[in-house]
Amino acid sequence: MTLARRELLTRTALALAAGAIASSGGSVGAVAQAAAVPPAGGSDAWDYVRGQFALSDDFIHMSAMLIASHPKPVRDAIDEHRRGMDANPITYLQQNNRRLQEAARGAAGQYLGVSGSEIALTDSTTLGVALIYNGLRLTPDHEILTTEQDYYVTHEALRLASKRTGARIRKISLFETIDGVTEDQIIDRISQAITPATRVLALTWVHSSTGLKLPLRRIADALDPINADRPEADRVLFCVDGVHGFGVEDVVLAALGCDFLMAGCHKWLFGPRGTGIVAGTKRGWDAVLPTIPSFIDSATWEAWFTGSGPVGPSTGSRMTPGGYKAFEHQWALTQAFAFHQDIGKARIAARTHELARQLKEGLAGMPHVVLHTPRSDSLSAGIVSFDVQGLSPAAAVVRLRERRIIASVAPYAVPHIRLTPCFANTSGQVEVVLQEIRSLAA
Ligand SMILES: Cc1ncc(COP(=O)(O)O)c(C=O)c1O
Repeated sequence: MTLARRELLTRTALALAAGAIASSGGSVGAVAQAAAVPPAGGSDAWDYVRGQFALSDDFIHMSAMLIASHPKPVRDAIDEHRRGMDANPITYLQQNNRRLQEAARGAAGQYLGVSGSEIALTDSTTLGVALIYNGLRLTPDHEILTTEQDYYVTHEALRLASKRTGARIRKISLFETIDGVTEDQIIDRISQAITPATRVLALTWVHSSTGLKLPLRRIADALDPINADRPEADRVLFCVDGVHGFGVEDVVLAALGCDFLMAGCHKWLFGPRGTGIVAGTKRGWDAVLPTIPSFIDSATWEAWFTGSGPVGPSTGSRMTPGGYKAFEHQWALTQAFAFHQDIGKARIAARTHELARQLKEGLAGMPHVVLHTPRSDSLSAGIVSFDVQGLSPAAAVVRLRERRIIASVAPYAVPHIRLTPCFANTSGQVEVVLQEIRSLAA
């Protein structure tokens, strides 16, 4: 086959399956970069931000960490794309998909301080975690180190990876009791558990059970001397389910120090439901194989057309699962990142911590409440986890729902009540929630 013909086929396949040839642009689907620009500082700014959400005023919503309400710029972008798709699905897709997927990857990259090419688009944290753990090239000689405190998604993805590859899983506990846990203790326990066979360290940035936030940078620093003596193929890869820090903390990937960060964009980022990302370093991407065929990777198509076999190391585009999508949601990711950047990552982090701190301080003073989340900002983010004496977590959540407060129960073997204040909440709402919890005293 001539080069020109192969190029034509590749371009046609990309245009049909993944979307448009980049240069086609055009007026169809030119969604304005409509992001809210709140006025600087003060509570007015937060009122303005809250006004971007269509949340019902009948409730105090404190479970953003489950599934997001879309702010106006995201709703508008989805609506416009949906209208375009409903009017002319093929043309709209062809004229826009490639450009808009690249824009979404670029926006995610900018948010995390990396190139968009280091980003894979997924539809959830769960998909990202599964793609990475099941894509790692592991052997029966390898060990995966994780913790008892990690979530079902990590444990189950690792169990399946272990079944496929024969790699062993070892789970350690990061603490005896969460009360009084320190960064030093966490670092010590992890460092001491790493053996020459450990190839993967699989952790969760902010635990959805207790709200504990791990000191990722310090853990990465502790891995440096261990990795310094190892050949590339035996280095410990640091992989993190980052969903409950992503959209809360003001950091970039390099500051976290992990090889992979997997996160849904439909929780704290308030991105389109059904979206997520994996951010990887070159070292990380080199260590995994895709599971799902990519539609946006031209070299993979090219190899298929020509039967030329393997296509080289993995990349963010090669690890982006193909198939036709709820495209209007994926494309509107750009507006979700813009919304955050316009408000400011630092302001969002400060606001989330301020509201969580107010909540924790109030709960800590209640004799009938056991607060599990550490009080310090360095060991917590936006999740506040606790128990109410005399009430099961499920019963407490029902009682709060009757009082029009949306809390949730952590789906763990030992469940707790969770409240997750975010920048769409107010200090006044936190006060109301505290009053209602006070009234739950037996
Ligand atoms: C730590 C953690 N990881 C992953 C998930 C699942 O996230 P997603 O819905 O984006 O797959 C959750 C729960 O919502 C969680 O708490």
